[in-house]
Amino acid sequence: MARLTRALSLAAVAALALTACSSTASDGAATGEGGVELLTPGTLTVCTNPPYEPFEYEENGAIVGLDIAIVQEVADDLGVELKTIVTPFEGIQSGADLDAGNCDLVASGITITDVREEKMDFSDPYFDADQGLLVPAGSGLNSVESLDGKTVGVQAATTGEEWATEQGLKTVQFEDLGLQVEALRGGTVDAIINDIAVLGPFVDDSLEVGATFPTGEQYGFGVKTGNTALLDAVNATLERIKSDGTYDDIYTTYIGTAPSN
Ligand code: ARG
Repeated sequence: MARLTRALSLAAVAALALTACSSTASDGAATGEGGVELLTPGTLTVCTNPPYEPFEYEENGAIVGLDIAIVQEVADDLGVELKTIVTPFEGIQSGADLDAGNCDLVASGITITDVREEKMDFSDPYFDADQGLLVPAGSGLNSVESLDGKTVGVQAATTGEEWATEQGLKTVQFEDLGLQVEALRGGTVDAIINDIAVLGPFVDDSLEVGATFPTGEQYGFGVKTGNTALLDAVNATLERIKSDGTYDDIYTTYIGTAPSN
């Protein structure tokens, strides 16, 4: 017990020392709570690529969704404001936005992959994902085989695009999910592939989910390689919201059911 108390007070002193010196950092970077350096003082700047309901989408002029609700918790824990920047997924997933200093964090339903791990550092996983197929209702398109000779719309630089290409499907690239769905409705493509969880909102009389392709993906939030302070803060928030029920509330709000694990 005595040892624990001593360790804690040492940690407190260390934390104070860290705050004290990093707040006088000479490189112009701003320092938030707990020694986390942010691009803009007092603001956690996050890059995201809507429309991607229920993870990031516009509602009454604001970007909301499961990803945004979680990064809002991170900002709250840091005691700073949240600012979202809407930008193409390509630069988000390649690490370019982080490297260019466009944002502190990328939150965009990003699947953690080995290739991306080399371009940025990922938080602990926070959501499980698979790929899905959105097709015209009654089209009978419900498998990889049924897509033989068909044209499939994919979102550029996503794992869905990679998966479709690996299956040998004939693909056409779109910049975002909104444009993919527009092409499907307009008949430019026969089907579209993207993460299964984002297809549900488009199901109506004319469109249906034809198939789910299990890929076992997991989403993570990304920080610039080596930004351990922010990564630790994100993971600490993820741990907190998982243990205090906030994550379950957010999940239920945006996914519609309670998480299964
Ligand atoms: N999970 C997929 C990937 O990482 C697609 C993510 C697309 N996200 C978005 N907000 N548009 O490649």
